[in-house]
Amino acid sequence: MLKLLVSVFFSLFLISRPAESADTLRKLPAPDTTGGKPLMQALNERQSLKDFSSAALPDKVLGEILWAAWGVNRSDGKHTIPTSMNKQELTVSVLLADGTWKYNPADHSLELVTAKDIRPLLNTQEYVKDAPLQLVYAGERSDSKNALMHAGSAYQNVGLYAASAGLHNVVRGYFDAPAVAEALNLPAAQEVLISQAVGLPK
Ligand SMILES: Cc1cc2nc3c(=O)[nH]c(=O)nc-3n(C[C@H](O)[C@H](O)[C@H](O)COP(=O)(O)O)c2cc1C
Repeated sequence: MLKLLVSVFFSLFLISRPAESADTLRKLPAPDTTGGKPLMQALNERQSLKDFSSAALPDKVLGEILWAAWGVNRSDGKHTIPTSMNKQELTVSVLLADGTWKYNPADHSLELVTAKDIRPLLNTQEYVKDAPLQLVYAGERSDSKNALMHAGSAYQNVGLYAASAGLHNVVRGYFDAPAVAEALNLPAAQEVLISQAVGLPK
């Protein structure tokens, strides 16, 4: 009898578990860590450029943008940006036409937050509505000074990658951060700090 109950319990548990499918988890291609323009050239070309083609970015480019922002670049799990006391507290949300995702640096993948396109929440300036990708950086409310620095390091890396890869990008703080945090379903301990629009030139 006990055996039967245990087996019924496990069958129900397995049936009710959400399937981890390609629809909710999207693995990104590994970045080409030997490519790109020389650093001095990328620094020289870094700038905010605000006209965007609405064309979706290829997964390879999306993966390299996210790796630049917050990827793991060493076998000990540390990142492309430094973090205060190695706390590794930064959330990078990835807002695309096909839904809203969270970047998981450990396995370089995207995890679905919602199938909704929430980019319109950030369209507080006309030019930004065409951008195929909006990144939203969030950090710990209780450590806001360091959280802001982490976000700044990440958006600067993305700005340099954009200069290297011929993409346009602009960092943007002009939007309703609490509304975006709610749409992202962020825990109350986290706060949305800044966003960044990225795309191919128009
Ligand atoms: C923290 C921060 C917030 C910004 N917010 C906005 C914004 O809301 N809208 C916008 O059009 N540009 C925004 N910018 C872009 C700046 O206007 C831009 O970086 C500045 O004009 C200097 O130009 P450059 O990036 O080409 O050197 C922001 C930049 C930073 C660093």
